[in-house]
Amino acid sequence: MRKHIVAGNWKMNKTQTETVELINELKQQDLDANVGVYISPAFVNLSKAVALTADGNIQVAAQNMHQSPNGAFTGEIAVNMLQDIGVNHVILGHSERRAYFGETDELLREKVQVALDVDMEVIFCFGEELNERKEGTHFDVVKKQLTTALFALDVSAWRNIVLAYEPVWAIGTGETASPEQAQEMHAYIRSLIEYHYGVKCADDVSILYGGSVKPANAAEIFAQPDVDGGLIGGASLNATDFAAIVNGFAS
Ligand code: PGA
Repeated sequence: MRKHIVAGNWKMNKTQTETVELINELKQQDLDANVGVYISPAFVNLSKAVALTADGNIQVAAQNMHQSPNGAFTGEIAVNMLQDIGVNHVILGHSERRAYFGETDELLREKVQVALDVDMEVIFCFGEELNERKEGTHFDVVKKQLTTALFALDVSAWRNIVLAYEPVWAIGTGETASPEQAQEMHAYIRSLIEYHYGVKCADDVSILYGGSVKPANAAEIFAQPDVDGGLIGGASLNATDFAAIVNGFAS
C-alpha cells in the first residue's frame, strides 16, 4: 500500500547555521509517525542534515544531481557523491530546474535512470503551466512528461519512484489547485500508471501534490483519495507550519 509523504523543498534557502536551527526546531515537533517526512536542504548542507536526522524519522533528499556518474562537469554533483554522504533520495524535474536550467524530459529520463540504477529513490516533479491549463491541454502535457521521462522504465523501478504533481501556476504564487482539480489530475496520473504497469503498481505509487500548500489548505488537499501527500516549498522553511502540514492527514 502506498505511503503518505510530506517533503520540504528548501530550494536555495538556509545557510548551514540556519539549517541546523531549522532541523532542531523540526525535531521538537510532534510529527505524525505514519507520514514519511523528507527535507531537502542545499547541497552544501546535506551532510549536516544527514548527521542531525540520523536518530529520527526525517529523510534527507537532494534537490538535483547530474546525469553522469563523474567527469568534467564543473559545478555539478554526481549520484555516488550523494549516496556516499548518506543521501538516498533525490528530487528530479522540479519546475524551477526545467524553467531556469533548461531541463527537459529527455534529460530527466537519463537522470532518473542513473539514480534508480543505484537504488536511489526519485521524487519526480512535473506539471503544466498556466497557459496550458487555460488552453485545456494540461492532461496531455502531464501525459507527455511522464511518457518521456518514466514510462520506458521496467515495472520494478516503480518501487523507488514518488511522483509530485506540481502545476507551475501554483508554485510560490499563493494560488493552489482546488482539492477537486488536484484529485482529478492525480486520478488521471494513477490511471496512466495502471494502463502501463497494472493496478498494483498504480495503487502502490505515492502521488504528492505541490504548489502553495500551507497549514490552512493541507487537510482538504490530503483528504482527496488520490493525493498521498505534498511537496512543500515556502511553508517548509518554518518548523511549525511544516509540522502542521505533516499532521494534515485525517487519522
Ligand atoms: P511552494 O513550492 O510550496 O512554495 O508553492 C512548492 C514547490 O516548489 O515544490
